Amino acid sequence: MPPTTAAAHGPGPARASLPIGVFDSGVGGLTVLRAIRARLPHESTLYLGDTARVPYGTKSPASVLRYAEQATDHLIRRGVKLLVVACNTASALSIGPLRARFAPLPVIGVVEPGADAAVAASRLQRHVVLATESTVRQHAYARAIHARVPHADVTEVACSLFVALAEEGWTEGPVAEAVARQYLGGLAASPAAGRPDSIVLGCTHFPLLHGAIRSVVGEGPSIVDSATTTAAVVAAELDRLGLGRTMEGRPGHALLATDGAERFAAVGSRFLAEPLAASDIEVVDL
Ligand code: DGL
Repeated sequence: MPPTTAAAHGPGPARASLPIGVFDSGVGGLTVLRAIRARLPHESTLYLGDTARVPYGTKSPASVLRYAEQATDHLIRRGVKLLVVACNTASALSIGPLRARFAPLPVIGVVEPGADAAVAASRLQRHVVLATESTVRQHAYARAIHARVPHADVTEVACSLFVALAEEGWTEGPVAEAVARQYLGGLAASPAAGRPDSIVLGCTHFPLLHGAIRSVVGEGPSIVDSATTTAAVVAAELDRLGLGRTMEGRPGHALLATDGAERFAAVGSRFLAEPLAASDIEVVDL
């Protein structure tokens, strides 16, 4: 049994006052945190970025699961009422085991909400999913989309270099566009009849490369990501469980990282779209 705070399983009001936990391999999940804060401005949040071990996208399933379990343990010890696995790779590889091990904690991943967004945005149900190597190897998005639309056509493309580009801040201009062309140029050149009408950004970092991706795929396809739909699922789940925060006063927001507060602040401020200082981040050991 994982260690838990009394409030995490205690009576409704105490539990409802706890923050929403958000976990990612690093700073990328701040795009999801931003959407959650926008959708649920009265809720407190506790974000943990495993910056000491990022990237997860090239790691083995066993390692990603172990890291995700350690992060969840840590957030539960701190006290959270619900966990969002904001990392697509960790969602793809560990959501089932996390739900089983940490029940009754509600655990929400980003793949299912991302598949919902993709299906809703597509008329032809021809999808191209851009993700990390591990997410693609797991076929997590293909399975989630096929569960909704069995006849959907889904192509998955591993775009590992996009992660480094987003972290480096090289999200626009010739380098970003050249990399996007290398990954996606074949799609743009394919006959019109077979072209996708939905490009799914199946990685936390890829929304920052929206412009470069658009420049290669053209105006035709919708470009969808899971942040907004994930925030909507979180809102619905809190509502369903009667766990919405009812306290007076401003919510609290805390950021944890496993390494490098300075770098987290510098890179993370682009993902969160608000200024961060190293002193805003607490470095923790899992
Ligand atoms: N957070 C990861 C994801 O969404 C991207 C970065 C990594 O590889 O850890 O898949």
